[in-house]
Amino acid sequence: MIASNLNINVAQKQEILEIFDVNERLRKALSHINREVEVLELSRRIQSQAATEMGKTQKEYILREQLKAIQKELGEADERTAELDEFKKKIREAKMPALALDAAQKELDRLSKMHPAAAEYTVSRTYLDWLTSLPWSKSSQDILDIRKAKKVLDEDHYDLEKVKERILEYLAVRKLKTDMKGPILCFVGPPGVGKTSLGISIARAMGRKFNRISLGGMHDEAEIRGHRRTYIGALPGRIIQGIRRAGSNNPVFMLDEVDKIGKDFRGDPASALLEVLDPEQNHTFSDHYLDVPFDLSKVMFITTANILDPIPRVLRDRMEVIELPGYTDLEKLQIAKKYLIPRELENHGLSPKNLSFTDESIKKIISDYTREAGLRNLNREIATICRKVAKMVVSGEKKKLEITPQNLNQYLGPIKYFLEVAERSSQVGVVPGLAWTETGGDLMFVEATKMKGKKSLTLTGYLGEVMKESVQAALSYVRSSAKDLGIPPDFFEKYDLHVHVPAGAIPKDGPSAGITMATAIASLLTEKPVKSKLAMTGELTLRGQILPIGGLKEKALAAYRAGIETVILPKENEKDMVEIPDEIKRKIKFVFAHTMDEVLKLALDTKKKAKKVKRRKT
Ligand SMILES: Nc1ncnc2c1ncn2[C@@H]1O[C@H](COP(=O)(O)OP(=O)(O)OP(=O)(O)O)[C@@H](O)[C@H]1O
Ligand SMILES: [Mg+2]
Repeated sequence: MIASNLNINVAQKQEILEIFDVNERLRKALSHINREVEVLELSRRIQSQAATEMGKTQKEYILREQLKAIQKELGEADERTAELDEFKKKIREAKMPALALDAAQKELDRLSKMHPAAAEYTVSRTYLDWLTSLPWSKSSQDILDIRKAKKVLDEDHYDLEKVKERILEYLAVRKLKTDMKGPILCFVGPPGVGKTSLGISIARAMGRKFNRISLGGMHDEAEIRGHRRTYIGALPGRIIQGIRRAGSNNPVFMLDEVDKIGKDFRGDPASALLEVLDPEQNHTFSDHYLDVPFDLSKVMFITTANILDPIPRVLRDRMEVIELPGYTDLEKLQIAKKYLIPRELENHGLSPKNLSFTDESIKKIISDYTREAGLRNLNREIATICRKVAKMVVSGEKKKLEITPQNLNQYLGPIKYFLEVAERSSQVGVVPGLAWTETGGDLMFVEATKMKGKKSLTLTGYLGEVMKESVQAALSYVRSSAKDLGIPPDFFEKYDLHVHVPAGAIPKDGPSAGITMATAIASLLTEKPVKSKLAMTGELTLRGQILPIGGLKEKALAAYRAGIETVILPKENEKDMVEIPDEIKRKIKFVFAHTMDEVLKLALDTKKKAKKVKRRKT
């Protein structure tokens, strides 16, 4: 009877029926019953567990609700209302423009209706936090005392009159007209000429906050403009972040390395910058995250770049470009004496009594241990000396030291640069050209050689497309005027030409080596060497006309550093000579040429027949 009611299958029931011994049969049935009881017991246990858990959250919820009700009754604000009140106060204090105020109030309204545990809550709170902590109407007071500003600028930097003048002009107009828009300046020049440090100094002179961001390698448009709030972890762009950090709406804002800004599938940060750097538009700069316009028109933007070419034209157009082309040796001497040495002495805890430099020794450091347009290496060499002297002072070896050209190598080791020109000029087929690179101007040798073969031209030295084409043009020019130059008309039938521009690992490009290439080829084929200590630069047309070049001052400085005595330049660049410091004009003779014929007449040494170049054994 029991077995038939148990929850077991037919086969098991049959098994029980087949046991005839009553004792045995009852035992079997009992084991089935026991199992059944256990299953029931287990399921009851699980159920009751679930029930108690449910009860706990329910209990908590009910308690919380009660607590709220009690707090309400007592008139006590909870944490959340305190936060909301705080925001209300901040909104009032921020003195936002109408649009932003509207957005902030709406967001606060939304926030107050949200449950604090909701994911949206933090997003909304962060947004409000950004909105209320921006300096919407907080400006710092400008120092409008021109004399004081000039003094500060002069304290930090030597010369750089053009830049200083521009800043003082701005301050003067600012004094007459209070709502003036901030200028957008662009400092262009080789490394270490003081672009970044000048920005800091300008902020100090004007009494403004300073903030700097580096654009180098920036790829993503969102870095400038921010992400929309719908993205997880969205933030405003670097411009708005910088403004918040500066804490005033009229800081000096430096955008370093604009020429190294990237561009790829994530967008083009340069075009996002267009809005930032346009005085007509930037009073309503809209960041994707903020979603309301912010007025950037009082900010003084300063961008810096090593070279102008990579900066997109439209962007360049919006800025006032100020060139800082580098310093001559005499200027460097002054800067070292007045700025670098006193600063390094202080940095190393030394006094002028411990260590002094003679002018001659500084000149020697400049010419033999550094070759640069800026001052970084010079500064580093001076620091090296200071360190060594600090060690001597501390170890009690010496208390007082004067650096002279004679003892310089004890501290800095053997000289690092020597004049290459003297050794390499006046060879057939080798012509020093002047190049304009990121690090300022540089001397660049063009070498040409010929060998038996037929009509081929090999180009090596990591040349860019434009430069390769200008070698082709130079060759075509030489071939077409072969007769006038006294070159056998069939030379190209019998020879192969090879043009190489060392150093082979450095990429080079641009058209301004045109006349250098042509001179190298002409020198090779006429077997007349180039006059010694002569360099040149200029673009060449197929007809032998010479077109003007850029970066004249950098190139002139490079020639000067390298010990060149004559420089051939395009006639059209003659008007730019005003930029060249007198010190350079005194040392270098500049000659201007209209056509390639004139260049060859000036450059090739007709008297000297080629001296055999002795090959050095290595
Ligand atoms: N005219 C100057 N007078 C005094 N110090 C100068 C002058 N020019 C540059 N310096 C000093 O040279 C150092 C290098 O300058 P800075 O870092 O501003 O170079 P930069 O132009 O920004 O270079 P980069 O293009 O590599 O960023 C600084 O310590 C600066 O004080
Ligand atoms: Mg810099």
